[in-house]
Amino acid sequence: MTNKYLSYDDQRAPKVRAMFSRLAARYDLVNDVMSFGLHRKWKKDTIRLALEGRTGPARILDLCCGTGDLSFLAEEKALPGSRVIGVDFTLPMLGVATRRRLETQSRSGFAQGDALRLPFPDGAFDAVTVGYGLRNIADPLAALREMRRVLAPHGRVVVLDFGKPDNPVAGALYQAFLRTVMPVMGWLFHGDPETYLYIPESLERYPAQRGVQALMQEAGLQGARYESRLLGTMGLNIGEAPVEARPL
Ligand SMILES: C[S@@+](CC[C@H](N)C(=O)[O-])C[C@H]1O[C@@H](n2cnc3c(N)ncnc32)[C@H](O)[C@@H]1O
Repeated sequence: MTNKYLSYDDQRAPKVRAMFSRLAARYDLVNDVMSFGLHRKWKKDTIRLALEGRTGPARILDLCCGTGDLSFLAEEKALPGSRVIGVDFTLPMLGVATRRRLETQSRSGFAQGDALRLPFPDGAFDAVTVGYGLRNIADPLAALREMRRVLAPHGRVVVLDFGKPDNPVAGALYQAFLRTVMPVMGWLFHGDPETYLYIPESLERYPAQRGVQALMQEAGLQGARYESRLLGTMGLNIGEAPVEARPL
């Protein structure tokens, strides 16, 4: 593996932060182009699943919030009295989120923080969403444990990310698509083919929807399950905090 933004050592986080700092200004535009706008639908599904069954206001944490898409959607869909906070460790991404917050007069809050050391007490949230973030975190299991810690009993976590199709032919075609189209996108938008080649390369070791389901169970989340989208190229993982607190 050679991607300059990806490593599996203590340089993982600084490299990921450097990459997202570089692409923050065009992140929203590129998302729309790359997914033909479909990411909007998958993000709506994420919020619907996160809020499913809630009959009152909710405290929502949008982890790895980036430019704030899921935070703003959560604010729109949650019942009155709900509170949303987006957390990310890349300041330029938070800068875009804050600009959008001002433009839309949103009440969502944004803060810098690390998913592996969340600055919140136990049980502070009713729902946690993570859009295209878990794959970028150095230790996904530790991050899921941290999510479980900040969830109140019955609180729900929903993770949206690139998936891996069950069908090997679809999987191979998908990898070929990503490895052909992503360098072109990186070159077009940032003058650097490696920027989006990061996606297929980071997917190699990412356990995707089936592996994340197992990690959720290991992290002590209950009812862990997943839904696939677009032939399994996207995955939505859902898990719930247990009613009884038990040692982590
Ligand atoms: C692909 S973006 C996703 C942004 C947004 N959630 C969305 O769906 O459009 C991934 C984000 O994860 C953030 N991130 C990665 N690792 C993180 C960590 N350990 N703690 C906080 N944020 C992290 C990056 O800074 C980046 O903004």
